[in-house]
Amino acid sequence: MRVLGIETSCDETGVAVYDGADGLLAHQLHSQVDSHAIYGGVVPEIASRDHIRKLAPLVEAALAEADCDGSAIDGVAYTAGPGLVGALLVGASLGRSLAWAWGVPALGVHHMEGHLLAPRLEPDPPDFPFLALLVSGGHSMLVAVEGLGRYRTLGQSIDDAAGEAFDKTAKLLGLPYPGGPALAELAAGGRPGRFDFPRPLTRKPGLDFSFSGLKTAVAYALRDAPDEPGLAADIARDFEQAMVDTLALKCRRALRQTGLKRLVVAGGVGANRRLRAALAELAEGEGVSLHFPRPAFCTDNGAMIAYAGYCRLAAGESVGPEISVRARWRL
Ligand code: KG4
Ligand code: ZN
Repeated sequence: MRVLGIETSCDETGVAVYDGADGLLAHQLHSQVDSHAIYGGVVPEIASRDHIRKLAPLVEAALAEADCDGSAIDGVAYTAGPGLVGALLVGASLGRSLAWAWGVPALGVHHMEGHLLAPRLEPDPPDFPFLALLVSGGHSMLVAVEGLGRYRTLGQSIDDAAGEAFDKTAKLLGLPYPGGPALAELAAGGRPGRFDFPRPLTRKPGLDFSFSGLKTAVAYALRDAPDEPGLAADIARDFEQAMVDTLALKCRRALRQTGLKRLVVAGGVGANRRLRAALAELAEGEGVSLHFPRPAFCTDNGAMIAYAGYCRLAAGESVGPEISVRARWRL
């Protein structure tokens, strides 16, 4: 079975082709980052318009890359939520229309399920069950993944998502959007240990996260520390360390609590190098295997949607012809 996958939930337009026998055949991405950067964040109206402009050419490019045409496609998967409704509707409308024209089933996929399953696109994919740390711009969650569609949320953020904390802190430091990668780059030149930022909710039991206080601590540090060269880099370094320590501690706690032997990291923040290194060390110490998507599949992409859609369509799932998307959707 060969599935075309479409991702348009936020500011990346992604299209991919996944084949049950041959694996990932094509993966095309257009990032809108430059269109939103001047506004300091994603502007929904601009996102929708840009998806409309780019989506059909990307479908053509993906089919060309996969060296096939629509007649070879057995199903279409598109992100149906959570995300920006106008943006989601672009992918859902074109996805459904293509499926209709090609006479194949179409399916709306949960964006976070795409992220959860993305590590299975890599060589040596993790078998079920596994523990997933899902850290993106909109979500921070620890999920016990027992099988396809069998997801138990063990903990989640009670305020800002991890990526959101990176983005907001980056903004405080005067860095351009999207803040995560820019902050990590700045942190690389910082001196560690100057600021003792909190590791929120680590002293209490439980697996929930809270990151808004960390951002506030950065705001106070910026206000109170003498303004000298390297200040922003030093703050970035200690902020990043506080984020990494907090995420790693909750992963260790969740692994011990569940007894799961595989740890999977997904979502945009999973591209962070310091986090990857800390989790590698943790996994070794705990005797569990660690699985990451390649950095390009940590952030939003069509491949994860094609793959999640393939899994569900291959299991016989499909839905009626109505087009529906959801801004909010529980995993
Ligand atoms: O998964 P994603 O592409 O979009 C959502 O579904 O939200 O995640 C984007 C988030 C942004 O907040 C971005 O700043 C963060 O991931 N991010 C990073 C890094 N690369 C992306 N955060 C920290 N370090 C990075 N290297
Ligand atoms: Zn995402």
